[in-house]
Amino acid sequence: MSTMSPLLIPAALVTRLRVARRLVVLTGAGISAESGVPTFREAQTGLWARYNPEELATPEAFRGNPQRVWEWYAWRQERVRQAEPNAGHYALVEMERRVAEFVLITQNVDGLHRRAGSHQMVELHGNLFRVKCFDEDRPVENWPESADIPPRCPHCGGLLRPDVVWFGERLPVSALQAAEQAAATAEIFFSIGTSALVYPAADLPFTALAAGATVVEINPQPTPLSPHVTFSLNGPAGAILPGLVEQVWGSASGVGGSGP
Ligand code: OAD
Repeated sequence: MSTMSPLLIPAALVTRLRVARRLVVLTGAGISAESGVPTFREAQTGLWARYNPEELATPEAFRGNPQRVWEWYAWRQERVRQAEPNAGHYALVEMERRVAEFVLITQNVDGLHRRAGSHQMVELHGNLFRVKCFDEDRPVENWPESADIPPRCPHCGGLLRPDVVWFGERLPVSALQAAEQAAATAEIFFSIGTSALVYPAADLPFTALAAGATVVEINPQPTPLSPHVTFSLNGPAGAILPGLVEQVWGSASGVGGSGP
């Protein structure tokens, strides 16, 4: 028997999920909240409530004070290293196993989906643990030991920066194209743990809706997307997703194989 309390997943959604062949999921910082990774826009706890993005997450900020920017990202890396994927991340791994076609689009840079075991992934905003050259934009994996902060590019001697998308920058073209294509061909599209405020990611659920997809939102708070979705599941992803997976496909990963 499962120890999870039954969650109210609408029967119509359960039915649609059982026959769906192509699921697409968009996640935001909220899916990692239960891992202890701070979100951005929540009052009090969000990073942008405590730090000014203009001083930390723009090319101008990096030009003005590269050391401060590098060190802030090193701090965020450290927080994420200490965190573990939560039940929401693992439920999405299970979903990927259960459906024929599955794409996970994430705005998160924390790498927790991959650590949980998701495979078919599009990282829209880069990754906290990758580094690239600020001048040449090319990925860099190794650089010479030195005391420089930030370290220097081994090819051109320019400054290295985290390979994340900053305000005012374009998203990686191939990732954005893959995400748009996935959204346009989804049968069921989930928007999970995102404030649905940052574009172009915030367009993706609307692309799916326009193409006739069922759109499901999972978030404890309403967002600008909420009035438009087919199903709204109000609550934390780490509680709702495992319950949903169990109700639709039988027991969720790690719960024991008793089946439906
Ligand atoms: P936000 O901080 O804007 O939104 C987080 C959302 O997660 C909010 O709507 C919360 O209500 C919701 N939430 C909180 N706890 C949750 C939980 N346990 N389960 C489900 N939802 C929960 O974060 P994003 O939407 O990801 O960009 O922000 C988008 C982008 O803005 C980020 O990728 C980042 C930021 O600036 C870059 O770094 C480029």
